[in-house]
Amino acid sequence: GESITVKELAEKMKNSPAEVIKKLMMLGVLATINQEIDADTATILAQEFGFEVEVKVEQDVEALFMQEPEDDPADLQPRPCVVTVMGHVDHGKTSLLDAIRETNVTATEAGGITQHIGAYQVEHNNKKITFLDTPGHEAFTAMRARGAKVTDIAILVVAADDGVMPQTVEAINHAKAAGVPIIVAINKIDRPDANPDRVKQQLTEYGLVAEEWGGETVMVPVSAKTRQGLEDLLEMILLVAEMQELKANPNRPARGTVIEAELDKGRGPVATVLVQNGTLTVGDNLVAGTTWARVRAMMDYKGRRVKKAGPSTPVEVLGFSEVPQAGDQFFVVPDEKTARQIAEKRANRKREEEFKAAMPRVSLDDLFNQ
Ligand code: GTP
Ligand code: MG
Repeated sequence: GESITVKELAEKMKNSPAEVIKKLMMLGVLATINQEIDADTATILAQEFGFEVEVKVEQDVEALFMQEPEDDPADLQPRPCVVTVMGHVDHGKTSLLDAIRETNVTATEAGGITQHIGAYQVEHNNKKITFLDTPGHEAFTAMRARGAKVTDIAILVVAADDGVMPQTVEAINHAKAAGVPIIVAINKIDRPDANPDRVKQQLTEYGLVAEEWGGETVMVPVSAKTRQGLEDLLEMILLVAEMQELKANPNRPARGTVIEAELDKGRGPVATVLVQNGTLTVGDNLVAGTTWARVRAMMDYKGRRVKKAGPSTPVEVLGFSEVPQAGDQFFVVPDEKTARQIAEKRANRKREEEFKAAMPRVSLDDLFNQ
């Protein structure tokens, strides 16, 4: 409940704390100057001094905005799927992401495009797919640790010459724990020692059985080097995405997740965020973790300035108070004051928790066993 200290109450009534303590004693309450007294006691006391009291209940603004209001199903529209790539070291995650991006570059962009942020979108059969460039397991662990779910589909890259390796298994476990469907990209099939069937065989041990073997897992042989199979892979991503019926409401204040963030010398704190629901607009105020931002500018993955970013769109955002953390969830609030207030409150709480965690702990056992 609400409370006030004796000292504060005395100050408000322009009276001395001693007078207040005396009055309290007459009411049968023994109090010191810094003691908190509850709203009821304070009210009676103030009335004794001839004041009227109005008790204001401080609203928990944070809770107000943290909770995501349910969308009316009628407001929902299809959104692009969000894909991350996972797999063992050197199995070709980066090469595959690069090859997919470059395959999608239009003639006018000949020579390739420079990707500016850790995410990009491609279009296949007039449908967009969002690829996150963060190493898959990081995306899963860091983000899941903060309760964020960003990925709709995990692409598990397994090199056809190397087969299932420890991090392959780790990746499978992460995706399964997150409840995210897996598409296996059997990579490097151009290599003479490639053995896709051996990969399929190995994966059965982890519950991933290829469709052509009577199972349910989509497995696509690809080569990031020759680009063989990339169209098939995109096709399969869209197919799996379609079954998920991914939807969002573009007509509401945005919320989403910070994908990566850094301090840029010239531009200050910059963050790549993924909008997951609603539309983020330049000028919006948002809270992300213990930081806040008034969105000053937004850039898409090609570095072009954009004014708006809808569901499943990755954008770079300028205007943060400090560098947020990857995995921080963000939500838009009505004004800068609210954004600042919530962020500061969270920062204070975090400092308190860190302080508490750093204090030496003494248990009753320690005291008695000395
Ligand atoms: P880490 O980020 O270190 O985990 O590796 P990665 O999974 O991103 O692999 P990366 O894309 O860096 O590829 C590792 C090596 O495999 C590089 O030398 C690539 O050129 C090579 N490579 C990747 N894909 C293919 C492929 O389809 N065929 C062949 N022959 N080589 C490939
Ligand atoms: Mg890589």
